[in-house]
Amino acid sequence: MVAPRTALLDAVGALPQAVNPFALSLNECPFPPLPAVRSALRACDEAANRYPEFLPQRLRSLIADHDGMAEEQVIVGAGATGVIMQVLHAVTSPGDTMVMAEPTFDGYPIFAQMARLRTVTVPLDEHGRHDLDAMAEAAKTARVVAVCRPHNPTGTIESVIEIERFLTRLPEDTVVLLDEAYVEFLAAEQCIDGPSLVARFGNVVVVRTFSKAYGLAGLRIGYGFCAPDLGRQLWRMQLPFGIGLSAQVAVAASYDAENQLRQRIRMIAAERRYLQMRLRALGVYSTDGQANFLYLPAGSSPWPEVFDGTGLQLRYYTDGGVRITIGARQSTRAVLSAVTAAA
Ligand SMILES: Cc1ncc(COP(=O)(O)O)c(C=O)c1O
Repeated sequence: MVAPRTALLDAVGALPQAVNPFALSLNECPFPPLPAVRSALRACDEAANRYPEFLPQRLRSLIADHDGMAEEQVIVGAGATGVIMQVLHAVTSPGDTMVMAEPTFDGYPIFAQMARLRTVTVPLDEHGRHDLDAMAEAAKTARVVAVCRPHNPTGTIESVIEIERFLTRLPEDTVVLLDEAYVEFLAAEQCIDGPSLVARFGNVVVVRTFSKAYGLAGLRIGYGFCAPDLGRQLWRMQLPFGIGLSAQVAVAASYDAENQLRQRIRMIAAERRYLQMRLRALGVYSTDGQANFLYLPAGSSPWPEVFDGTGLQLRYYTDGGVRITIGARQSTRAVLSAVTAAA
């Protein structure tokens, strides 16, 4: 048996490092939480003997106000992951079909398996974008379809018009998970007006998270919003005491610090453009990424070999591509020097 003191040291030692220029595999924010958010979070420790709210009404209302919606349209989960599972539990039965792109966010095949769904995958096109025609066709007999915008791993987006045209082609009882985990990285003119979209399409659930641009992946906070009828159905599956005490404080402090967060987002987007430009100068193509990562399709040398021995943690795909999370300049330099050395 491990002595209690050693176990505590082990547990603290096992915490991930907030700043780690090599950690580029999970699309996390490379910066520690903002000082204002950290200091607000300290207040939560003292109340840890108490349960959080039975159902997260206050957090729901905070998010609804912030995004300009009615409370009944919002659900809250342990990350976008929790929200997606909640939707699947509420609207599917084992054996139903779920349509998704291939490749897509690794979570989707896992969630489908957990909900005992049959999956139909639709390959991305050569530029890493969804084939929305093929997805609409496949979704005709599906219960759920997932579309990520920006997409993970390619970072690409379809235009607002393309998404709307896709939605009009789906049966009304096919639920669409419009996954906007990286929406904060988009320019204003690239964003879909979510509240107006869900007012027009009663089968769409927009999924968001505080894990990416807000930099709070370790706290596990996500939310979804949709039309009120569907929202009420999804809220019935809201897990009692399922959202920790710190979530509401962290979200409120983050909304207060929105200007500083915007500045961080601009820095990450600028770093992404810089890495993309330097890679292009080296003859390396990446898809038109709009989030906090870049996707490099299979190159002339296998990517695991190119980055072997560099210590960089990256996400490799079976099609030979690699996804690289954008970090600070030190990470960019490490990526570029490995690619240059392999050229
Ligand atoms: C497209 C997409 N959706 C959802 C998630 C899950 O995020 P969360 O940490 O909020 O569960 C991720 C995480 O990488 C993602 O890339």
